[in-house]
Formats: sequence, structure tokens, C-alpha cells
Amino acid sequence: MYNLAPSKQDKILEVIATVAELESSLKPLKAKGLKIALVPTMGALHNGHLSLIAEAQKKADVVVCSIFVNPTQFTDPKDLEKYPRPLEHDIKMLTEAGCNFVFMPSVKEMYPSYPSPENWAIDLGNAEYVLEGEFRKGHYQGVTQIVFKLFDAVKPDVAFFGQKDFQQVLMIKNMVNELGLDVEIMTCPIIREEDGLAMSSRNIHLSPTDRAHSLVLSKALFFIEQNYEKQSFSDLLRNAKQIINEAPDVELDYLTIVDGDTLLPITEKAHQNTVALVAAKVGETRLIDNVIIN
Ligand code: PAF
Repeated sequence: MYNLAPSKQDKILEVIATVAELESSLKPLKAKGLKIALVPTMGALHNGHLSLIAEAQKKADVVVCSIFVNPTQFTDPKDLEKYPRPLEHDIKMLTEAGCNFVFMPSVKEMYPSYPSPENWAIDLGNAEYVLEGEFRKGHYQGVTQIVFKLFDAVKPDVAFFGQKDFQQVLMIKNMVNELGLDVEIMTCPIIREEDGLAMSSRNIHLSPTDRAHSLVLSKALFFIEQNYEKQSFSDLLRNAKQIINEAPDVELDYLTIVDGDTLLPITEKAHQNTVALVAAKVGETRLIDNVIIN
């Protein structure tokens, strides 16, 4: 463990690599009754992550951010290999944000038997198998496996996730319910670039042309949001897909309007808990986005 020079906020970010160190650093703080927040990330931090840190700071006394590129949630080894890891930049951002701890474990620390798989099979409900679950088989077992380990290491009172990964937050809530974990899950709104693109660590892979083409995803979602009351479901989806088709090199995986819990398509405008979700490959980069309708 080492301390970095305090920045703007005159706070010191403690960088921690092992569960044992983390537990011993947090123990005295918990003993004082301080509320602990966890912001799990895979690094390559952007303003979306900073918004999670800011919300965590409002809600808790101590904020722990984890940075761990979790191998068990990647279905494509090439995707894992090329996942951005700008650690110095991340540490600078967390220091400036006044985050208290960053937990950056090795793969062996989190998965001692790696690459041999550990037993993890949890019932996340049928929503595990649709949308992202269909395109990235086993992805949410990997996500919940690592989030469970992070919860176990930090034992946070509250944990913060971004709405951009809508299905991920649902799966994490389902895990928390299934295992009866004592942690509050908070979802923070999507942070967008000025032109509408949802912030994501993967945006770094977009070429300038892909970056321009990627805007059709948020445009299609905003179209659905703005015309929701005016058009039928089939017109909404057809017109929104047309917006996406206008950009070359954008390969749509799905665009759908679903119930926010089951993730099954809805057919009634009166339905509450409605969300429109999109996933597409823009050039070589797969992006997801969503808007909550009601
Ligand atoms: O959203 C992410 O960055 C990851 O899926 C998470 C929640 C940190 C688990 O690895």
C-alpha cells in the first residue's frame, strides 16, 4: 500500500492491492460507525465513473473504488486483452475526485486458482438469458461472481452502479436478493457526451469515423423517448431502426422496448417500468445504451 500526494481536495487516496490490507484499513473506520460506499469499476475512468464517486460521497463517509478488469465476465479473450488499462490516469482522477481508497487487486488475489474456474452458479432469473445474456453467454455469472467477491472484501453499506449497464444493475440486484446480502444498490443516471453518446470506457476504441456513426444509437433512443406517446410500438421500432441503418458500419444486435424487471418486450403504452435498450457493433466496438421511458 502507498499514499499518493493529496490533490485539489487535500485528501489522500490509499491504493490497496490485497483483501487483507483492505479489511485492516476499513476495520477502524467501520468501528467508528462510518458508512462505507463501494464503486466497482474496471478502470479507464471517465466522467460517468466520477458521477458515481460524487453520488457515493454524498451518501457515505468513506468511498472505496475498485479497479479490476474481471476475466470471468469476458466472453471474448481478445476483448479482455484489449480492454484499456490507463492506471496512472485513473489514480489521478480518483485522487482529484477525493476518493478515499482504490482497491486494485491482481487476478490471483481475486481468483487464486485462475485460470481454473471456481464454482459459481447463481439463479439470476430468466432476464439473465435475454439481450446481453444472449450475445454474451455467461457474462452475468462472471459479473455477479466478481461483484460478490468485491462486496465480501469491502462489506459496503451501499454500492453504486451506472444505468448505462441497465441489465447488469438488474442482475446485481437479483443476486443481492437471491443471496440476501445486506447492501443497498444505487443506480446513477447515464452521463453523456454533449452530442449524446453515452460515456463508456470502450469509446476510446472508436475511430473518428466510428465515433461519428455511434451517435445513431442515442438518436434512435431519443426518438423512441420523444415519440413514445405518438406512435405505435412497431412504428417506433421501425423508425428508430431506420435512424440506426443510416450509419454505415453499425451492426445492430438489438433495439427493444421492454419491462425493466423481466426485460421482455411490452405491448401496452400504459405499462409502467418501461425501458428502451440498444446494442450494436460500431466498427469493431460493441456499444450499449438505453433510456428509461417511465
Ligand atoms: O461495469 C463494470 O465496470 C463491471 O461489469 C463491474 C460491475 C465493475 C464488474 O466487473
